[in-house]
Formats: sequence, structure tokens, C-alpha cells
Amino acid sequence: MKICIVGASGKLGRYMIQHALDRGHEVVAVCRPQSVGKLAAFDGRITVVPGRTDDRDAIGRAVAGCDGVLTVLAPWGMQRYASGTAQAVLDLAAPGARLVFSCGWHITRDGRDVYSRKLRWFVKIFGWVGRVLRVVDLDDQVAACDRIFASDARWTVVRGSDLEEGPGEGLPVWRRHVGDPALASNLTRRVDFALFMVAALTDDTLVHEAPAIVGRDSASARRHAAAPALTTGAGAAQNAGA
Ligand SMILES: NC(=O)c1ccc[n+]([C@@H]2O[C@H](COP(=O)([O-])OP(=O)(O)OC[C@H]3O[C@@H](n4cnc5c(N)ncnc54)[C@H](OP(=O)(O)O)[C@@H]3O)[C@@H](O)[C@H]2O)c1
Repeated sequence: MKICIVGASGKLGRYMIQHALDRGHEVVAVCRPQSVGKLAAFDGRITVVPGRTDDRDAIGRAVAGCDGVLTVLAPWGMQRYASGTAQAVLDLAAPGARLVFSCGWHITRDGRDVYSRKLRWFVKIFGWVGRVLRVVDLDDQVAACDRIFASDARWTVVRGSDLEEGPGEGLPVWRRHVGDPALASNLTRRVDFALFMVAALTDDTLVHEAPAIVGRDSASARRHAAAPALTTGAGAAQNAGA
């Protein structure tokens, strides 16, 4: 597959590049011009299009001819960066392309997620501080996802739990709603978040889903879920009752 990774220079983006290359995909990477150096390790193996991820000209060039697009939705700044990024990808990707977006558990598609008091407070305080300091706009990430949910494109919105670094454990377990006991550990290796994003490209059971993920070796996943083998589609991780 020829794929584009939008927001490729971040931690998640670089893991996604590696997984995509391991699977034999051809990769076009979009990142801010000042971050191109962060992709030096992939020199000669990927095509880099420098540009802000909401730059419609850069996105248009990067997604041309791509069968799939992996997009990191980052809530940074107060210029509607996340919604501008999502809209550019939705508008400019080829019709029928698989579009996979990243965000956090705080995004809800149907209002049926059940959040812990700790998570609700974290989102409130982080959102408020970010807004006051004008560095983070969580509401814009919500707006970005609302645009995706309303779209007819073949999208998946992957909702990450808290993240940690460390060796991969394999494909995370997912559930349709936060609050499911299988997700209670609220921890995923970032490298496995990236693995789920890349696996979703070729898993049609995830089209029009917003999976909330958790590490397959986390205590809650082991207690409540039969995690899938790596060779099966990510959708196979959706366990009954979610
Ligand atoms: N961190 C967590 O605990 C957590 C938890 C759940 C879900 N998530 C989700 O996981 C995804 C990746 O998050 P991450 O925390 O692991 O970060 P990350 O992969 O390091 O990515 C951060 C992205 O934001 C960009 N960025 C940083 N500062 C920016 C600015 N001022 N203006 C515009 N873009 C800026 C980075 O681009 P440059 O390389 O150009 O700086 C990079 O593309 C996001 O969708 C996030 O919502 C994260």
C-alpha cells in the first residue's frame, strides 16, 4: 500500500513509519518544516513533504495517490490546528482511501463513554490551563473528531489511553466505550498504539469505529479480554460485549 503519515515527526508518527515500513508499505510523511531533521533515521526510505499538517497545499501533494492516511491529531496552539488538519485530510485524500486518526479517550463519539473522576478532572484542568496559556485547545480536537464522525469517508478514530514507552507487547485490545472493565488499566505502550493505527489500515471491521485501546498485557486486558494474535486484523480484538 502507498500510505501517508500526517504528523510523522512526533513519537507516535515515527513508530508508525517503522511499522509501516516493516509491513512493506510505501510511506509519504508530512511534518512541520522545523521537524524534518527528526526523520533523518528514515532517509532514503520514505518521502518527506515538509509542511504544517493543516497546510492544504502540503496535504494535497502528500496524499495524492495514497490508499491510506494515518493522521496524528494534535491539540497544540489556538489556530484550530487539529480541525484544520482533519478537514484537509477528509477533503483531499482519494475517495475510498482508508483514513485512520489518533486522539485520546476523552473524545466520545456517542456520549456513551463512562469516565473516571480522575480522567474528567484531568481533562478539565489540562484543557483550562492549556486554553489560558494558549498552548493547547482540547475543544478543537473534539471539533476535529466531530467532523470525522460526520464524514462518509472510510475513517477510524483510534482513541489512546495514557501512554508509556517500552518494548512492544503486540496489538492492543479495544472496546467501543471507555468504562468497559477491559480498559481499566488505562495504559498502552506508544509503540503498540502505532501498531494499532497501522493495522487498522487493512482492517475493514474498524471502518466507522472509534476504538478505545489498552495494552494487551495490561492487567485489565488480561483479566477481561482474549487478545488477538498479531497476525489477525485489529478488529479481531473487539471482544464480545463492548
Ligand atoms: N501523550 C499521551 O499521553 C496521549 C494519550 C492518549 C492519546 N494521545 C494521542 O496520541 C497522539 C500522539 O500524541 P503524543 O503525545 O504521543 O505526541 P507525539 O506523537 O510526540 O506527537 C505530537 C505531534 O504534535 C506536533 N506538535 C508539537 N508541538 C506542536 C505545536 N506547537 N504546533 C503544532 N504541532 C505541534 C508534533 O510535531 P513536531 O514533530 O513538528 O513537533 C507531533 O506531530 C495524539 O493524537 C494524542 O492525542 C496521547
